[in-house]
Amino acid sequence: MKPVVYVVTSCKGGIGKTTVTANLAAAIADRGHRVLCVDCDYSNRALDLIFGTGSTDVPGIDVIIRDGIPAAGACVTVREDRLWFVPGPSDGAVTFTREQFEDKLTKIVSGLGCDTVFIDTPGASDGILPTVAPCAGVGIIVTSHTPTSVRGAERMGKLLSGYGIDDQYLIVNRFDGKSAARGERPGVNELIDRTCVRLLGVVPDSRDLELAQEEGILADSFKRDRDRVCDSFDEIAARLCGERLPLFSYLPERKRKKLIVSVPKRKRRENY
Ligand SMILES: Nc1ncnc2c1ncn2[C@@H]1O[C@H](COP(=O)(O)OP(=O)(O)O)[C@@H](O)[C@H]1O
Ligand SMILES: [Mg+2]
Repeated sequence: MKPVVYVVTSCKGGIGKTTVTANLAAAIADRGHRVLCVDCDYSNRALDLIFGTGSTDVPGIDVIIRDGIPAAGACVTVREDRLWFVPGPSDGAVTFTREQFEDKLTKIVSGLGCDTVFIDTPGASDGILPTVAPCAGVGIIVTSHTPTSVRGAERMGKLLSGYGIDDQYLIVNRFDGKSAARGERPGVNELIDRTCVRLLGVVPDSRDLELAQEEGILADSFKRDRDRVCDSFDEIAARLCGERLPLFSYLPERKRKKLIVSVPKRKRRENY
């Protein structure tokens, strides 16, 4: 069966692409899928740190392609029999073609028997994106709710369409529910309107996640009653796997409504 290939992207750096890639991949793997992540951030490889595996003695995707390293030696195991990743390029430049990338990806995926692939990118449209995005069938655009990143998400939707990826989803990361409920920042409904991209899910801003990541710990090891970030990745994974769940399904009805339909208390400037 052909795997589903997602390219995770945004116009801005530091928005949470790698965080979303790693935690969503883990949530999907835990639902019984075989998942491969490919780190394509040639400016700053990071999946090895976030997965907490380290990868000093493992070649990156650029070297794997250049030296013809067989698929079997090209991946790092994160969770036995269900989650792997290919480390990012170490050269600081794009050194392979779209055909070379696609060929190697196909071999690795069939060697591992994966049904799901996430390609983590640095996002900039003039970088690696044109090389790797056409290999994906679905785009996941990550945004926060700051004006610049929302505008970037809308632009990224158009860019992905230019690469032939019309199947696109939006993930709002680092969502500050309190400020959205107070009307200080756009709520979920407003973000959908502004980006014109189908909303897949919302990941709360979580200091625990930020700190855990520095230790190479994923959200699914958190205590669930303390931090809802894990529930948010589970919900997004469930939706990607075809379950019909309402947004913030893990919250009581009253809280869900406040987060989805925020009524601005004072008018924000209409500048994006
Ligand atoms: N939901 C979140 N809550 C808190 N911190 C986050 C969240 N998502 C990402 N971060 C932090 O933001 C920083 C950038 O995240 P990263 O995933 O590396 O972004 P990108 O891949 O887009 O450059 C990291 O320090 C990460 O821990
Ligand atoms: Mg990244």
